[in-house]
Amino acid sequence: MASKKASSPAAVAHGAPKIDIGIGEKDRRKIADGLSRFLADSYTLYLKTHNYHWNVTGPMFNSLHVMFMTQYTEQWTALDEIAERIRALGFNAPGSYAQFVKLASIKEDPSSPEAPEWQEMVRQLVAGNEAVCRTGRKVLEIADDANDNPTEDLLTQRLQIHEKYAWMLRSLLQ
Ligand SMILES: [Fe+2]
Repeated sequence: MASKKASSPAAVAHGAPKIDIGIGEKDRRKIADGLSRFLADSYTLYLKTHNYHWNVTGPMFNSLHVMFMTQYTEQWTALDEIAERIRALGFNAPGSYAQFVKLASIKEDPSSPEAPEWQEMVRQLVAGNEAVCRTGRKVLEIADDANDNPTEDLLTQRLQIHEKYAWMLRSLLQ
């Protein structure tokens, strides 16, 4: 039987190699922490939008029910991109309600037993989309300082979407 103590590099190296993507660990951690807060805000807004899709009432029911669905569907897909960017930077993505509540700047809306009127739902979604933008801008600055272009690209796309949603929702109240 051949000895397992061969001297080839493959036999010597154990476990996964260290991350060496050109961004130092300190910067990667700072960006990942920021992205975790951004993920928590994005998840909370996603859930609130879905919640309102279910619970909206009134003469605007049909258009709001559909509009909320378009928005939460898009947001749901983006959550995966944000979480996977955190993993690519070498850290774990938060994935529990307890963590999201702790990290988010947006408050949840229980909507049960009483859901808000549709105008209040729209106001809360405007505020939620704007809160996601404010968090995203802060993290974008951190990513920019570390020359983390993929994170900047991801956040730029998210800002474009959430600023658009804030405008569309605000227009319903004007
Ligand atoms: Fe539905």
